[in-house]
Amino acid sequence: MFEQLKTLPADPILGLNQIFQQDNNADKINLSIGVYQTAQGTTPIFAAVKKAEQQLIDLQTTKAYAPQAGDPAFVEHITNLLLGDELAKTLGDRVATVMTPGGCGALRMNAELLIQSNPNATVWVSDPTWANHYPLLQSAGLTLKTYNYYSPETHGVDFAAMVESLNAIPKGDVVLLHGCCHNPTGADLTKAQWDTVIDILAERDLMPFIDVAYQGFGDSLVDDAYGIRLAVSRLPEVLIASSCSKNFGVYRERVGAALVITTSEAQTAAAKSHILSAARRCYSMPPSHGGAVVGHLLSSESLTQEWKSELESVRTRMNSLRQGLATGLNQAQSKIDFSFVSQSKGMFCYLGIPQQDVLTLRSEFGIYLLESTRINVAGLSEQNLPVIVERVADVITR
Ligand SMILES: Cc1ncc(COP(=O)(O)O)c(C=O)c1O
Repeated sequence: MFEQLKTLPADPILGLNQIFQQDNNADKINLSIGVYQTAQGTTPIFAAVKKAEQQLIDLQTTKAYAPQAGDPAFVEHITNLLLGDELAKTLGDRVATVMTPGGCGALRMNAELLIQSNPNATVWVSDPTWANHYPLLQSAGLTLKTYNYYSPETHGVDFAAMVESLNAIPKGDVVLLHGCCHNPTGADLTKAQWDTVIDILAERDLMPFIDVAYQGFGDSLVDDAYGIRLAVSRLPEVLIASSCSKNFGVYRERVGAALVITTSEAQTAAAKSHILSAARRCYSMPPSHGGAVVGHLLSSESLTQEWKSELESVRTRMNSLRQGLATGLNQAQSKIDFSFVSQSKGMFCYLGIPQQDVLTLRSEFGIYLLESTRINVAGLSEQNLPVIVERVADVITR
């Protein structure tokens, strides 16, 4: 049966992490993997999440199967967190939320829904986009094409080019947008740019599919949902894939949500039945624990407040590390102006250095970033920042 199989290359991000683990360099630094880390290099459990988890374990009386659409408290509260209470209330049953195994599960379930709705659907993704969008969506049968997004010259969004390519997308196609904290570039749309993008989508009858994996990591929980809420309030149909991995720090628990908004309650009910049917075909139902923890946390006013303030500390710390890197690099050399680093949002940004320098940083100093030059800002720390600045400046000025 399996004789003809060839071993596949490792996933580029997970594979690089494996190489990092095997590197014997005592001073090695991993800036490649997308996980938040403290100054001590750990990824702790949010105190509010831990409390919710402990309370939940005490309350739990059974391990019988949970509802297929997921923990009801999770479904209600995550919808409100993404859309805001008011908009969620206005939509009523025009929105359906299904809990999924992580944001990946949400992306895939929405992809399955799209294929059922239109087997010829084309999804347009930003150039570049998170590498995993391709296998997740293409293996559901969708065709992916790219729209212009990032300019390596300005290290930011090339908005004129983006508008031009959105205006050329055939009517009825799907446009995948990063809700906030664009992965891998960290270059986000401004609110005014979101307004223009949603205008174009409305005019051209294009449907947004919004991937939001970092709500609260950019400017705030509310600001980071600006694009989502605008799209949902202005457009008849929207798909959302949400991940709780980063903002609740529940990575391994696999918590996410697929949301579908259509023009009527009946259409939403039909779409939800297709998502649930796809889930049944793939994994039946999502793991219960992580979603129930998030649902329990968000049901408690005090735990929600505690979580929000922890999330704010994470965001503030990442912003100060980002600022420290930009300032440090600009002081250490004058070849590249790294001010753009301080303007990037969320966990990632492109450093924009030559690819050869990425390889030199890895081989000579054990500093690991992706070949695209993407760094995880949370891999920086107050301790390693001066070393990273010195070594990056050294390599790029040789
Ligand atoms: C842009 C984006 N979307 C979705 C995800 C999915 O996250 P998860 O499946 O771990 O919840 C990630 C995780 O890195 C991401 O960066």
